[in-house]
Amino acid sequence: MAIERTLSIIKPDAVAKNVIGQIYARFEGAGLKIAAARLAQLSRAEAEAFYAVHKARPFFNDLVSFMISGPVMIQVLEGEGAIAKNRELMGATDPKKADKGTIRADFADSIDANAVHGSDAPETAAVEVAFFFPAMSVYSR
Ligand code: PPS
Repeated sequence: MAIERTLSIIKPDAVAKNVIGQIYARFEGAGLKIAAARLAQLSRAEAEAFYAVHKARPFFNDLVSFMISGPVMIQVLEGEGAIAKNRELMGATDPKKADKGTIRADFADSIDANAVHGSDAPETAAVEVAFFFPAMSVYSR
């Protein structure tokens, strides 16, 4: 399987719960490496731009407001099949439907405060990584 990069965000609910380290341990346990990382307080404009593809969805404003409600931890994960592997670790969007042992099943409270974001395909991963990190600040390890 090819080495990929994917964009991961630990959302404000999980940052507030102080579980960044526990979530990083799951990435590392699955063989994913942190290739870039930063803690950030997103502005409304940044969050709206990042989620622009969901602009027409009924929950768009709630999603943006939630994502700017506190700091987020943003990272690039690198490894074999990183995009699918990260989605597997995350579990279903709705934590009530997420498999046991996934990040969302263990750390998320609801579909609108669901602990983590992960890119869903190679094309979106490339766009999302570039949105937050200039190429020169992402390091293959
Ligand atoms: S996904 O993961 O992209 O396939 O899920 P999708 O259903 O398309 O949802 C897109 C993003 O919107 C978030 N979401 C919601 N936010 C607030 N309220 C409701 N009801 C809701 N439903 C979905 C979902 O977590 C996705 O955000 P990210 O950051 O990609 O996880």
